[in-house]
Amino acid sequence: MVKYGVVGTGYFGAELARYMQKNDGAEITVVYDPENAEAVAEELGARVASSIDELVACEDVDCVIVASPNYLHKEPVIKAAQNGKHVFCEKPIALSYQDCREMVDACKEYGVTFMAGHIMNFFNGVHHAKELINEGVIGDILFCHTARNGWEEMQPSVSWKKIREKSGGHLYHHIHELDCVQFLMGGLPETVTMTGGNVAHEGENFGDEDDMIFVNMEFPGKRFALLEWGSAYRWGEHYVLIQGTKGAIKIDMFNCKGTLKVDGKETYFLVHESQEEDDDRTRIYHSTEMDGAIAYGKPGKRTPMWLASIIDKEMQYLHAIMQGEPVTEEFKKLLTGEAALEAIATADACTLSINEDRKVKLSEIVSK
Ligand SMILES: NC(=O)c1ccc[n+]([C@@H]2O[C@H](COP(=O)([O-])OP(=O)(O)OC[C@H]3O[C@@H](n4cnc5c(N)ncnc54)[C@H](O)[C@@H]3O)[C@@H](O)[C@H]2O)c1
Repeated sequence: MVKYGVVGTGYFGAELARYMQKNDGAEITVVYDPENAEAVAEELGARVASSIDELVACEDVDCVIVASPNYLHKEPVIKAAQNGKHVFCEKPIALSYQDCREMVDACKEYGVTFMAGHIMNFFNGVHHAKELINEGVIGDILFCHTARNGWEEMQPSVSWKKIREKSGGHLYHHIHELDCVQFLMGGLPETVTMTGGNVAHEGENFGDEDDMIFVNMEFPGKRFALLEWGSAYRWGEHYVLIQGTKGAIKIDMFNCKGTLKVDGKETYFLVHESQEEDDDRTRIYHSTEMDGAIAYGKPGKRTPMWLASIIDKEMQYLHAIMQGEPVTEEFKKLLTGEAALEAIATADACTLSINEDRKVKLSEIVSK
C-alpha cells in the first residue's frame, strides 16, 4: 500500500486525490486545506491535518501531492522532502527560478522523487507527436508556435488565479505550452523576448495580470518558437504547431484533433484517449462554458471528461513509480523537477525581458 497526503483540496487537488485513490494499493490518508479539507476528507475516508508540518510528518504518508495556489507550493514541497516523503507538485511548481532551484535541490538532497504536474506530457497526442519526431517523420524541427487565447468577461469575484503575485499570470499559470516546446526543442532557448500588457482587462473586477502576451524564443541552431497567451482575444485558439524540415504537426486543443502533414498529405490522430474525449473538448471550447481557451476551475467543481482522463493517467503513472516501476526515458526530467525548473527559468527570462524592454539571455537566469 502506498499512502498519500494531499496539500490543497480545491478543484484540482480533490480530483488528483479521487483519481489516485482509485488505484489498487493507493490510499489517501491525510489532507490539509485551510478552507476545503473536510468534505474531501469525508468523501475519501481520510483524516484532516491541522497544518502542513503535521501532514508531512505523518507516518502514514509516503508521498505528498501539492495542489495549493501556485505561490504556496514551495513550503510543502521542501518540508515533504525534508521528511523523506516523495512529492508530486502541481504546475507551476513555483513562481521564480530561485524557488524552483531550492525545491529541486531539496528533493535531490533527501533522495525523493519530485514529479511536476505538467499534464500535457500525458496527452496521447503529445506522446504521438514526440514519437513521430523521434522517428524523423517531420525532419528537424525549425519552429514551434503555440497559442492559448480567449476572451474573459468580468468575474463575480477575482480569483487568486488572476493575481500576478499569486498565480504568476498567464505565462506561469499556463506554463504547459512553454514546457512542451522546450521538450520538443530539446532544452532551453538561448534568448527570449517578451512583449504584451494588460490591454483590455483593467479595473476592479479583474486581476492585475497581462491579458496579452507574446514570447519569442531563439534556440541554438537557428530554431525558433513563438508563444501566445491571454484573455484579450475574441478569436479563441489553443494549439501547438510544430514545423519541421520535412513536415509539420498540429496538436489542436480547440478543434480537438492532431494532424500530421507530410508531402501535402494530412493524416489525423487523437489528442486524448478517444474520439469521444476529443469531441467533448471541442464542444466545451465552442460552448459558453468557456470563453475561448480560458477556463478556470474552483473548489467543488469537477473536471471535464478529457481532463479527468488525463488526471487518471497521470496518477496511475505516479503510483506505478511509487510502487517501484522505473522512470521511463521520456519522463526522466519530469520526475526530478528539472523540466519544470527549466520552464520557470524561461518564464523568468521573459519577465525580465518585458520589465527591462530587451532581449534576455537564459544564461542571465540559470547561472545565478
Ligand atoms: N495541471 C493542470 O491542468 C491544472 C489544472 C488546474 C489547476 N492546476 C493547479 O493546481 C493547483 C490548485 O489549483 P486549483 O484549480 O485547485 O485552485 P482552487 O482555488 O480550486 O484550490 C486551491 C485550494 O488550495 C487551498 N489553499 C489555500 N491556501 C493553502 C495552503 N496554504 N495550504 C494548502 N491549501 C491551501 C484553498 O483553500 C483551495 O481549496 C494550482 O497550482 C494550479 O495551477 C493544474
